[in-house]
Amino acid sequence: MIFQKVNALKGEITIPGDKSISHRAIMLGSLAEGVTEISNFLQGADCLSTMECFRNMGVSIENKNGLVTIHGNGLHGLKQPKDTLDVGNSGTTTRLMSGILAAQNFTCTLNGDASIQKRPMGRIITPLSQMGADILSVKDNGCAPLKIIGTPLHGIHYKSPVASAQVKSSILLAGLFADGETSVTEPYVSRNHTELMFRYFGVDISTKETTATVTPADKLVGQKIIVPGDISSAAYFIAAGLMVPNSELLIKNVGINPTRDGILRVCEAMGASISYENKQEISGEPTADLVVKTSSLKGTTIGGSIIPTLIDEIPIIAILACFAEGTTVIKDAQELKVKESNRIDVMVENLTKMGADITATDDGMIIHGGKPLHGAEIDSKLDHRIAMSFAIAGLCSEGETKILGAECVNISFPNFYQDLEDLVVK
Ligand code: S3P
Repeated sequence: MIFQKVNALKGEITIPGDKSISHRAIMLGSLAEGVTEISNFLQGADCLSTMECFRNMGVSIENKNGLVTIHGNGLHGLKQPKDTLDVGNSGTTTRLMSGILAAQNFTCTLNGDASIQKRPMGRIITPLSQMGADILSVKDNGCAPLKIIGTPLHGIHYKSPVASAQVKSSILLAGLFADGETSVTEPYVSRNHTELMFRYFGVDISTKETTATVTPADKLVGQKIIVPGDISSAAYFIAAGLMVPNSELLIKNVGINPTRDGILRVCEAMGASISYENKQEISGEPTADLVVKTSSLKGTTIGGSIIPTLIDEIPIIAILACFAEGTTVIKDAQELKVKESNRIDVMVENLTKMGADITATDDGMIIHGGKPLHGAEIDSKLDHRIAMSFAIAGLCSEGETKILGAECVNISFPNFYQDLEDLVVK
């Protein structure tokens, strides 16, 4: 894909469903009794991987006419899959499903693509093993493939060294099946979609400061869920609306859960013009429409408790920082190294090629903004968030920006390029 400078972006866009929430809706719907109906489910490859895994464990799931209908098997009704469960590119599928599979009365194996086979799974193997789980990294390298031998689990209190919703959720899902209460304390609060959806399905879950505690469940009851738009997908349009001159965008149906809205707080600190309309709550999650206008931006410092609330938005924040006056410092973000790619190295390498003044640090990056960027050949490393970030950078840079592996946006935002094109003022 090739991108060039555009003069303006105008119009409205409705953001597709939230990836994290779509995964969780399939998982809880499969474990519930009765029917769960999901509207605005994200039809991205990651969420379809989760759907396929549960189908392969005997759950009947229809996906047609914009509605996903799950005929739940109940908490103890999953069946042993015939083959290895294919998680594709999805860390969320791997880590959250491991918590569920650890407690089943069968053995199975999880595996995925080259990227997933490099991502750290020790972070879930350790706590789940403390609960009594029997999980083997088949190549003994702490990564997938994972062989999971289902077994009865005990409740634990786990103090997680990382603020990770995948780690927290994996343990809480295992806790549904444990013999007593399970709690997870994290250094900072990570996204709380699991906790909110547990409550929505009737599970007894409480939260206090950075600790979430679940009581083992007797049963979950099928629900109707409307998935809010994904703020991580909205982020590219927010950034584009702020950076491209003469722009005004109405970005509809954006989830603004406070454990996910760090990007909005950072944009505000950088001097962005963003206003909220039509605030409401859908399926227990807050949403709003956002009006974004071209703004002159200034650098900022990001670190500490805000990091988990914007972890997936750091690539696009790095792009914003290049177009802001002054210095932006991103710290406490070492988790970026273990995402779909090493997002510190990949951002620094590609932005340097485009002429940015950017330096990698141990836990983030330092960007001196205000230098005009020029087009370059960008290797996305098949990381969807890298491809989308550089598409937006390309709209504001001199010359041609060519993105290699651009089709990987399919993971979280299949219609991304078309939606972007539709907003360009010709
Ligand atoms: C996710 C949690 C985050 C995020 C990922 C989705 C989730 O990962 O980066 O895209 O759905 O729980 P970590 O928990 O590894 O930070």
